[in-house]
Amino acid sequence: YGEPVTGGADNKMLTIAHRGASGYAPENTKASFDLALEMKADYIELDVQRSRDGELVIIHDTSVDRTTNGSGEVRDLNLEELRKLDAGSWFSPDFKGQGIMTFAEFLERYNGKAGMLIELKSPSLYPGIEEQVAEELSKYPAADKVVQSFEQESMKKMHAIMPFLKIGVLVKYRPLGITARQLQELSEFADYVNPNKKLASRGLVQKVHALGMKITPYTVRDRSSAAALKEMEVDGMVTDFPDYVNELK
Ligand code: G3P
Ligand code: CA
Repeated sequence: YGEPVTGGADNKMLTIAHRGASGYAPENTKASFDLALEMKADYIELDVQRSRDGELVIIHDTSVDRTTNGSGEVRDLNLEELRKLDAGSWFSPDFKGQGIMTFAEFLERYNGKAGMLIELKSPSLYPGIEEQVAEELSKYPAADKVVQSFEQESMKKMHAIMPFLKIGVLVKYRPLGITARQLQELSEFADYVNPNKKLASRGLVQKVHALGMKITPYTVRDRSSAAALKEMEVDGMVTDFPDYVNELK
């Protein structure tokens, strides 16, 4: 007795701003990323795809329709065409003129200011994107960067190209959960298992930790989910509202 009861690694629980502070500003734009820094997010999450002429760009959907004033598939548009699009007005007229950033611009602007959780979105649509991302990343320190994807094969490849880079595997909700065998397989190349928050439980957190990996579930959009995940002792959480997570620290 007499030992202080500590709450574990609470202050190390990472606040990861999903597509920037996307609850308050248009996702994946300078406005949302800058706001994530202002709101003291530890990491910024972003989605990387590729233009027709081979430039790495930051956008979530494989088409520009939902988040810009244009239409068409990202991979069918050249960088010059993507640059002309307004990626802010759909969210609010206050953000008119926010554009689509390149991955190179993102790294240049935010390196060292926040960690980066870099998602390769639908990498099978973009053959060779892993090598291209590795090339860009090799210009910067790797310690505060994680590359993740829902596509496991792409992440195995990423790990083979840059063995020292931290790798995450995203897991969509599935009623039967994640099996011990699946976790074992992931632990062979991944550092993070990042499931839909509906899959998260104290038991899953313990199993992931026992295999030497970390877990940062997605996507927190209310305070009660943030509190529930904190109770499970996750390593961090991906959220549209960085303040909801920071309030718990
Ligand atoms: O980081 C987790 C999250 O970004 C995965 O889902 O669809 O928002 O890219 P999505
Ligand atoms: Ca994402």
